[in-house]
Amino acid sequence: MKFTVIYFSKDGHTKEMADVIVKGASKVSGIEAKAFSIDDLDKEFVDESEVVIFGSPVYHAGICWQMKKWFNEDSKPFDLEGKLGGAFTTAGYLQGGLNTACLELTQLMLVKGMMVYTSGSALGEPYLHIGATSLNESTEKDKAMFSVLGERMANKAKSIF
Ligand SMILES: Cc1cc2nc3c(=O)[nH]c(=O)nc-3n(C[C@H](O)[C@H](O)[C@H](O)COP(=O)(O)O)c2cc1C
Repeated sequence: MKFTVIYFSKDGHTKEMADVIVKGASKVSGIEAKAFSIDDLDKEFVDESEVVIFGSPVYHAGICWQMKKWFNEDSKPFDLEGKLGGAFTTAGYLQGGLNTACLELTQLMLVKGMMVYTSGSALGEPYLHIGATSLNESTEKDKAMFSVLGERMANKAKSIF
């Protein structure tokens, strides 16, 4: 089962966390996980993926314009309907909009016909609520949380598909 993480990253922090999600998902048997920048997507791999997770740096308390542009102008050829989606964000400040940006990604995924999942607070710690979030100076605890997001999304996909 294929598992995609799509991100934009100018300074590398969001990419770092995308790679952590891939590592977490890859712990689940039968999962082939890869991360792609929105500038360098493998369309065939994305279309064949059951899971597509989106990650963005927070810009002005929302997602970055590059990710919004991708949804507006570039996403149409991708077959996202019915896939399991998830969200993650990185930011400079705790109060800077991490959750509002996750909600923005969730809204975009719903518009694309995706099913959105994080495990919320239902499976205990780490609580993922609206999505995995980290400051740009991520801690080992943050990384463990992102890894668990990958693992839980992969397990959920295996139970659905
Ligand atoms: C144009 C711009 C706007 C930003 N706006 C915010 C913001 O509103 N809130 C915040 O917490 N961080 C903000 N940041 C900081 C980034 O979200 C943060 O450094 C992020 O981790 C960068 O991700 P990257 O390293 O993947 O590019 C902003 C950065 C840029 C370049």
